Parts: sequence; structure tokens; C-alpha cells
Amino acid sequence: MSTASSAAVGPPPGMAVRLSSNESPFGPSPAAIEAAQRALADAHRYPDDQSVALRTALAEHESVDLDQVAVGTGSAALLMDLIPHACADTQAPDTQNPEVVAFERSFVVYRLAARNAGARYVEVPTAGPATREDDGYGRSVDALLDHVTDDTRVVAVDNPGNPTGAHLTADELTRLISGLPEHVTIVIDEAYHHFASGQRGYARVRELSVDHPRLLTLTTFSKAYALAGLRVGAMVGPAGLIAPVDGRRTRFNVTATGQAAAIASLDDVDHLQHTVTGTVEGRARMAAGLRELGIPFTDGLGNFLTIELGTPSPPIVEAYAGHGVGVRPLAPYGMDEQLRVTVGTPDEVAAFLSASQSVLAEVPARG
Ligand SMILES: Cc1ncc(COP(=O)(O)O)c(C=O)c1O
Repeated sequence: MSTASSAAVGPPPGMAVRLSSNESPFGPSPAAIEAAQRALADAHRYPDDQSVALRTALAEHESVDLDQVAVGTGSAALLMDLIPHACADTQAPDTQNPEVVAFERSFVVYRLAARNAGARYVEVPTAGPATREDDGYGRSVDALLDHVTDDTRVVAVDNPGNPTGAHLTADELTRLISGLPEHVTIVIDEAYHHFASGQRGYARVRELSVDHPRLLTLTTFSKAYALAGLRVGAMVGPAGLIAPVDGRRTRFNVTATGQAAAIASLDDVDHLQHTVTGTVEGRARMAAGLRELGIPFTDGLGNFLTIELGTPSPPIVEAYAGHGVGVRPLAPYGMDEQLRVTVGTPDEVAAFLSASQSVLAEVPARG
């Protein structure tokens, strides 16, 4: 599998319907836009380096203390600080060969952060692709635990996962966390949790009865809160672990506009609900349309579906582009015959399904 470059994750230019980057098509909360505009008028001032108001709001939201919350320029930036820290942490038993363990086809930043840490990136095999009957890429807790060694410093799990949409249930996650030794830093990345809540056994870490001294959860304002362009992410965990990771970040990293918009977003429960409902409904419409076309796909719990083509993806991506629809090829994940398609607005979902009728007509039958 190749190491994904930043070029591999950029949006396709000029697409009328952009379903390639797991963004929210419903846009930010109007209150967040207003708050960001107000903050912009003070753009000659540095932001609050400690992001106290935002961290306070998040602490309240997550029912934890202020010193248990860190924020960064997206959760990706937090991962880039956290994973090297956890690999070098002298409080964990010493190792010359730190390892970062994740499921195959996990969020690409785990691999990039492991590389920056000089750590070995260990991928745990998952089940194979979807068929017409079943979702693909199922994850096994036992398989992951089998890959943990004395050298393991980090276990990172995106739940639900990107780009596969696979998830661990509450029971599976509990078993995983309970089965990991105390020297391992556990990162449960809940970037898509809003779209998964209450479905198919999914639960956030905060809903479980688990205890581990190095357990962290990541969330982001890029997905359900629709602030991807402002770059705000958050990490919650034990204060003793949060402080040194926070110490690694670039000063004044989260902009004043980002802080203001994120705080306003947390308060706008109605807009969040509108986004989540619209996304879950759109995902169901996309799934029904693909089923009608007989195309195998993984009906995951993110704001996207992962489609099996049974043929190399580049010409298919081109064909969608011909219809003005941008979709995501997954070659950087070693998935040459798959596409990831983000759930759009009702009109965008309709445009995708309409394009799919001709684009996918030639795709060989599978499963
Ligand atoms: C699983 C997962 N985690 C984290 C992120 C990063 O989000 P951000 O850096 O925008 O907060 C993404 C973005 O696509 C993701 O898919």
C-alpha cells in the first residue's frame, strides 16, 4: 500500500457536486457564521492561545474537566502531536521500536503520524470487500489484540472508520479497551459519531463503562458541525496525558474565528439535528439507489458509502466527473477498485444516483 500524499486527499477541482471529502453539504450553523464574522472584525488581535472559552464549552458538552480537553487545528493536527508524543513518552516502558497499531484501511493520518514518530505502523487485517448481501471490511477485536506487543505505544481506531464506514459496537469497543495493557495509548477517533449514534450497536466511548489510564477520544468540528475549512478538532482524556500533548502544538494554533464558530456550533442544537437527520436520510436514499442498481457497497455509519466496482476506479471517477460529480478514489488505501461517496443534499444525492445509472451500468456484476 502506498503512503498517501496530501495530493491524494485534495478535492477534485470544479465539480458541481462535490462528494469527495466527507464534508457536510448542509453548511455551518448560521449562528457559527455570525460568530466567525464578529471575530473577524478583531482579526488584528491574536486568538486566545489556550482556547479557554472553547475548551470550557467542550468540557461542559463532554461532561469532563477543562484540563481534560485539548483543541487543535483539526483532529488531524492533534493526531500529529499525540502519536509522536505517545511513542516517545518516557512514562511508558522504554522501547527502541515503537509501534502504532490500527485496522487496515483506517484514516490515513494514523500512518502519517506514525511515520513522523519514527514508529512502525502495524495494520490489522479486516474482512474483505462488501458483497450484494453483506457490508465489507468487518473488524475483529481479537485480531487487533493479537497484534499488540510490548512495543505497541498507540492503538488508533476510527469509529466509524474512514474510508470503510466499518464500526465496532459498544460491546466490541468495551472488550478492546479492557483488553489493552496500560502502557498503550488508546485513541478512539469519533469524527463521525453524530451520524452513527443510536444505530447498529454503536456507542461513543463516553457511554461505556470502561477505565484505562491512557484512553483518549478525538472529535472534530469538520463533519456534523460543517466547519472543515476553519480547522477545529478536540481531544478528551486524562489531564496528565492531555497536558504534554497540548505542549507540543504550535502557539495560537486555533484561530479566533475557528474558536468563535465552534462555540456557537455547540449551542445550535437545531442545526446539528437538521444536518444529522438530513445526512442519515440521504445515506439511506443513496443505499437504496445503489441496491436497486445491484452494486455492492458497505452501508457504513459515516456520512459516506464505500462502493465496490470490481474494476479499477480511475475511469469510473472520470465518468462521474463528466457528470459534474466528484467522488473519491481510494488507491492510497490500497483500494484500487473502490470509491467513497459522501452523502450530499437531496439534490446532490439525486444527481449522484442519476449519474450512477449510466456510470455504473458497465461495472461487472459481483457478489
Ligand atoms: C476518521 C477521521 N478522523 C479525523 C478526521 C480529520 O478531521 P479534521 O482534521 O478535519 O478534524 C477525518 C477527516 O476526514 C476522519 O475521517
